Amino acid sequence: LQGQRVSIVEMGARDGLQNETTQLSANVKAGLVDRLAASGLQRIETGSFVSPKWIPQMADSDQVFAAITRLPGVRYSALTPNMQGFERAMQAGVDEVAVFAAASEMFSQKNINCSIQESIRRFTEVCAAAKSAGIPVRGYVSCAMGCPYQGDVSAEDVAMAVRELMALGCYEVSIGDTIGTGTPHHVQSVLSRCLQETGPAQLAMHFHDTYGQALANLTAGLQLGLRTIDASVAGLGGCPYAQGASGNVATEDVLFMLQGLGMETGIDLPRLIDTSHWICTQLNRRNQSRVSLAGLPV
Ligand code: HMG
Ligand code: MG
Repeated sequence: LQGQRVSIVEMGARDGLQNETTQLSANVKAGLVDRLAASGLQRIETGSFVSPKWIPQMADSDQVFAAITRLPGVRYSALTPNMQGFERAMQAGVDEVAVFAAASEMFSQKNINCSIQESIRRFTEVCAAAKSAGIPVRGYVSCAMGCPYQGDVSAEDVAMAVRELMALGCYEVSIGDTIGTGTPHHVQSVLSRCLQETGPAQLAMHFHDTYGQALANLTAGLQLGLRTIDASVAGLGGCPYAQGASGNVATEDVLFMLQGLGMETGIDLPRLIDTSHWICTQLNRRNQSRVSLAGLPV
């Protein structure tokens, strides 16, 4: 692992803020995105073009996109569940969109109000439109390690979703442990099954840290050759359709671990820690990053 590069996809402004009870203004959200970019993050999920009735926290994503100061080399992305979302995203000038499927039928119904099969049909349209517009599409598979409604989820169902999203033209599929119940051996077996569908460069790890397993689970994926990690500054967030789920693993904690492994990210950790404290002050919330709480060792 020493000397190898890891790509971090920052989730704080989307997965993080979508589940915070404190509503921030579009300007503060844009301030977060700008600070994240200034710390060296080059892939920033900036918002979500979903129904404002379902996720009011993301209703102003177009204003957030209008308010950010774009840094060259940074990709500002957003979720787009359907054509309506895709069109809004194009008007906002996003660099990349993401479609999100689930490996569990019940979660698909609760999260996006349709079956997995119907979601794939909607994403086919979105992917075709994105292709014509020259916009890259990322895919997500939720509930890869377990579902809050269904319980166990088979590796086979995860792999099937990966296969379908890749067939639609997603350049990368992010494997979501939505409720954070995965443990290293389980993660290893699910990711190994996904690696029969595509290469490690096409898979990302999106682990929520509800049960404190995320860092251990990430090392399982790193050992399988995966090099893309989704993480959220200060461990912000959760999932509105997965009760009790906490945020993605904190970006600072991932960086600290990767530094220890001698892996490279190009991100300035002290600067990110400042941003982490700043956003927690804005939200009046306790920081969930162990590294930010402890401060860097001398
Ligand atoms: P629906 O209600 O089934 O859709 O929602 P519909 O097509 O019947 O439309 C109903 C109303 O929503 C209509 O408005 C539409 O215009 C509007 P009305 O006529 O009633 O006034 N609408 C929209 N408005 C704005 N933008 C849109 C849009 N689409 C419809 N794009 C839908 C279906 C998917 C839209 C809805 O269920 C939804 O928005 N769900 C939100 C899901 C969500 O954002 N979940 C959280 C993100 S996923 C996640 O966090 C997991 C992840 O992090 C990975 C992991 O951790 O596993 C990615
Ligand atoms: Mg998530």
